[in-house]
Amino acid sequence: MELMEAIYHRRTVRRFEDREVAAELLEEIIEAAVQAPSAMNMQPWSFAVYCGRPRLVAFSDRIKEHVLATLPPLFELHEHTDRMSDPGYDVFHGAPVLMVICAKEQGWSPAETVCLAAQNLMLAAHGLGLGTCPVGFVRSWFRLPRIKDELGIPGSHEPVFPVVVGHPVEWPLPTSRREPDVVVWARARAGGLRRD
Ligand SMILES: Cc1cc2nc3c(=O)[nH]c(=O)nc-3n(C[C@H](O)[C@H](O)[C@H](O)COP(=O)(O)O)c2cc1C
Repeated sequence: MELMEAIYHRRTVRRFEDREVAAELLEEIIEAAVQAPSAMNMQPWSFAVYCGRPRLVAFSDRIKEHVLATLPPLFELHEHTDRMSDPGYDVFHGAPVLMVICAKEQGWSPAETVCLAAQNLMLAAHGLGLGTCPVGFVRSWFRLPRIKDELGIPGSHEPVFPVVVGHPVEWPLPTSRREPDVVVWARARAGGLRRD
C-alpha cells in the first residue's frame, strides 16, 4: 500500500471479527511502531499486549466501573455515562487485542514520542489489513498503580496510548476533516508576515 493511500484511507474501526490476530502480525506492527523518530533516538516506548476476548471483556467491565466511580459531576448526564452503565457495552468494541503503548520515564518528550509510534503502528496495521481503534479514556485505569502492578506494566512506564487491533468486519466510511488551520505562513520574500 502506498504511504499516502494508507494515510488517507486509515479509519478507526469499531467492529471486529471474532478471531485472534496472528502473533507475527502483532510483531510486525510493533516493529513498524519503533521506526518512529524519538528525541536523541532514546526510543522511550514500551508495549503491553493483551490478547483474548474474555480478558478484554473483563477489563472493559472493570474500566466502566472505574469510569462511573470517577467521572467529574458535570459528566453525569453525558451519553458517555449511559454507555458506561450498559452491561452490554464493550469499551474495546469487540476487538481481540489491546496494546497499551507506554512512555518510559527516562527520555525527552516521551509522551509525544509514544504518539508517533502509535501512528506508525496504526498505519502499519492498516497496510496489513488490520483495523485499529485508539481508546483514550481507558488510560486512567491503566495508570492506577495497582492495575499496572497486576497487569505487568513497570511502575516507571506511563500508559499513554491504548489501542485495540483486530480484523475489521468492514472498513468505515471516511470521516470529515476541517480545512487545515494554517495561522501563519511566512513566505520567503520580504514584507513581514503575510498570508496570500
Ligand atoms: C487520542 C485518541 C483517543 C481516542 N479515544 C477513542 C475512544 O476512547 N473510543 C473510540 O471509539 N474512539 C477513540 N478515538 C478515535 C477517534 O474517535 C477517531 O480517530 C476520530 O473520530 C476520527 O476518525 P478516524 O480515525 O476514522 O479518521 C480516539 C482517537 C485518538 C487520537
